[in-house]
Amino acid sequence: MPTPLSETTILLVKASAPALAIHGTAITKAMYARLFQDAHIKELFNHSNQGEGGSQVHALAAAILAYAQNIDNLAPVVPVVERIAHKHIGYHILPEHYPFVATALLAAIEEVLGDAATPDLINAWGEAYWFLADLLKEREADIRKNLEAQVGGWNGWRPFVIAEKRPESSVITTFILKPADGGHVVRQKPGQYLTFRFTTPDGSQVKRNYSISCSPNDDHYRISVKREATGAGGSRFLHDIAQVGDAVEATPPAGDFFLPEEPVRPVILLSAGVGLTPMVSMVEAIGADYPDVQAHYVHAALNSSTHAMDRHVRSIAKDHGRISVATFYSEPAVTDAAGLTHDYDGFISVDWLKLNTPFTTGDFYLCGPKPFLKSLVTGLWMAGVEPERIHFEFFGPADELLAA
Ligand SMILES: Cc1cc2nc3c(=O)[nH]c(=O)nc-3n(C[C@H](O)[C@H](O)[C@H](O)COP(=O)(O)OP(=O)(O)OC[C@H]3O[C@@H](n4cnc5c(N)ncnc54)[C@H](O)[C@@H]3O)c2cc1C
Ligand code: HEM
Repeated sequence: MPTPLSETTILLVKASAPALAIHGTAITKAMYARLFQDAHIKELFNHSNQGEGGSQVHALAAAILAYAQNIDNLAPVVPVVERIAHKHIGYHILPEHYPFVATALLAAIEEVLGDAATPDLINAWGEAYWFLADLLKEREADIRKNLEAQVGGWNGWRPFVIAEKRPESSVITTFILKPADGGHVVRQKPGQYLTFRFTTPDGSQVKRNYSISCSPNDDHYRISVKREATGAGGSRFLHDIAQVGDAVEATPPAGDFFLPEEPVRPVILLSAGVGLTPMVSMVEAIGADYPDVQAHYVHAALNSSTHAMDRHVRSIAKDHGRISVATFYSEPAVTDAAGLTHDYDGFISVDWLKLNTPFTTGDFYLCGPKPFLKSLVTGLWMAGVEPERIHFEFFGPADELLAA
């Protein structure tokens, strides 16, 4: 545990929270402008999430604001630290990178707040930054140590070879990845993601997270990727350019969204679109390792053309006997019919979940686009599901979802 913060720092940082609520995004933008003057630091980031309106800017602003608001009682910040630490492991952020952010952040606070940034306030923020940074560094060191100690464990970027590539639907393609060194892989917790570094044909580097879609094993990882027609390249690189035999690099599995080792409560998995990937990993793990666990997997897709891995999931459910599967199509194709190709037309609703799942006793795991998560996470909470029974993953920086 880092040295506790002084009373003066707590008072000064808390008093600056209203100013941060107004200027938080301006401060983090100014911070990134300074930080990215160093090319070595700039290349650590995922640039899809940066820039004008970039969600990483909001994610960091939200984290700093939440920190300032809670500095006298940091309990609510603990889960945020866990999520950030895992993100940092994915992007291979090391202790030596922290001073760069400190310098850039304090200079940015001075730049944006002007005369209001008194030397006492800057000192207080310096102390507060290093307190949070030390918490993150300690947790990240623990995670790294644990990953390295496991069979197949490693740290940093490791080359993988694409051993198999196969389409799962009109928009989702699966890739099987094996270590280029022929060794084992570390077993992920079902629900965790890998972070990749691809070199695109124009020579630029792209970093992206992809959830592992298979159950933990020693031999390989599987990822299943939706092609984004207009993206900067991660998914199009994988869909259009990468071929069997090609190499990609990945850091070890990370993420705080996963199925517990021995689930004690019924499990309710809810996904939409490509948000199915961590859920399929969980369904496979329940199928293989937890014969007694009762699970419900409810998935929403546009229609049968975009819906991936349905037969696979249903066959695991049938073999297991205690997993039920339900699918919703919001835009059924002319050849789709509820009761045949899928179970229901429309969207998953809290009312449907109340009637068809162990609503008052189960643990909910959700993954999907922002509107899906916002409506169901809020809906579950409003319907009385305790926050500790709601777990969710979002395929981007958690910005306002995290802040909420
Ligand atoms: C923890 C985690 C797990 C994930 N798991 C999966 C997974 O299992 N499968 C999967 O398919 N994806 C997953 N993702 C998402 C994945 O990391 C990529 O974000 C996704 O593949 C898109 O990357 P891209 O490079 O193709 O597109 P990007 O360049 O990142 O663009 C994404 C979208 O943003 C839009 N966009 C880009 N730049 C701008 C801009 N400047 N202004 C406005 N709009 C813009 C694009 O039009 C596009 O629709 C995951 C993400 C996270 C964080
Ligand atoms: C106290 C210090 C820091 C805080 C509070 C912080 C906060 C955050 C937050 C909130 C996120 C988003 C997490 C999410 O996706 O939900 C994040 C991601 C990230 N951070 Fe940090 N961070 C800190 C230090 C650093 C440092 C020192 C570096 C490297 C120089 C760094 C690099 C990154 C990268 C590369 C990501 C992933 C970016 C992405 O998804 O686009 N961070 N951090």
